[in-house]
Amino acid sequence: MNEHQNGPEDQLKTIIVTQKLTKIYGGGATRVAALKAVNIRVREGEFIAVLGPSGSGKTTLLNMLGALDRPTRGRVIIDGVETSSVPERRLYRIRREKLGFIFQTYYLVPTLNALQNVLMPVLPMKENKRYRKRGERLLELVSLKDRMHHKPGELSGGEQQRVAIARALILNPGVILADEPTGNLDTKTGAEVIELMQRLNKERGKTFIIVTHDSRIAESAERVFYLMDGRLSDVPPEEH
Ligand SMILES: Nc1ncnc2c1ncn2[C@@H]1O[C@H](COP(=O)(O)OP(=O)(O)OP(=O)(O)O)[C@@H](O)[C@H]1O
Ligand SMILES: [Mg+2]
Repeated sequence: MNEHQNGPEDQLKTIIVTQKLTKIYGGGATRVAALKAVNIRVREGEFIAVLGPSGSGKTTLLNMLGALDRPTRGRVIIDGVETSSVPERRLYRIRREKLGFIFQTYYLVPTLNALQNVLMPVLPMKENKRYRKRGERLLELVSLKDRMHHKPGELSGGEQQRVAIARALILNPGVILADEPTGNLDTKTGAEVIELMQRLNKERGKTFIIVTHDSRIAESAERVFYLMDGRLSDVPPEEH
């Protein structure tokens, strides 16, 4: 990536940047270098896909970009804050205020209905009643108005993923980090979820970073990166 180019993206604010981000799990015989000196710059309003096969480091990268885990070496800077130099309490606040997470397996609570699941992130807050209307509106936005009182077991996979997307939006984050958001969905439902994410990007200005092996997401992304064995590149591996 050329940091000195003068493209229109230079006018946009950088929201997440990594510098030589390296993550090593374990040690000795079980040592795995999951990320190797990854440099990525994410600007506000971008729709980015990171493509890579199983085990290439996608989830590890997303966890680092979302400050869910700490790098072994290198830096992750979220909205100007260098994450390794701040206490966990501050990271928790950054995650809550700036980031929304969508996981491959949805992580919905089976005993709660769709609306209650969407409201999960605000439950610890004193003023959480204020969010009920917003939760309803978000479920409407993801076309689940008539499923609000259904529990996850009574929803299809695509509907569950849409509940998870609504939940990621409840605190109105600027950035959504998504791990294989279409991984468990059939082609048609997957396409609907991609369309929904694009709509949120175009109409609401949400920044998306999606890690996936679904090449259809790459087709709809503005910028595509490729992760191979822990190394990030902006050219597909076969072109090396
Ligand atoms: N907690 C951990 N301890 C040790 N090794 C790990 C840990 N988490 C991941 N790894 C290893 O790091 C590498 C990258 O894992 P990661 O989960 O980031 O891959 P991925 O690209 O998300 O794969 P998938 O597409 O299968 O989800 C893999 O080789 C994996 O075995
Ligand atoms: Mg993964």
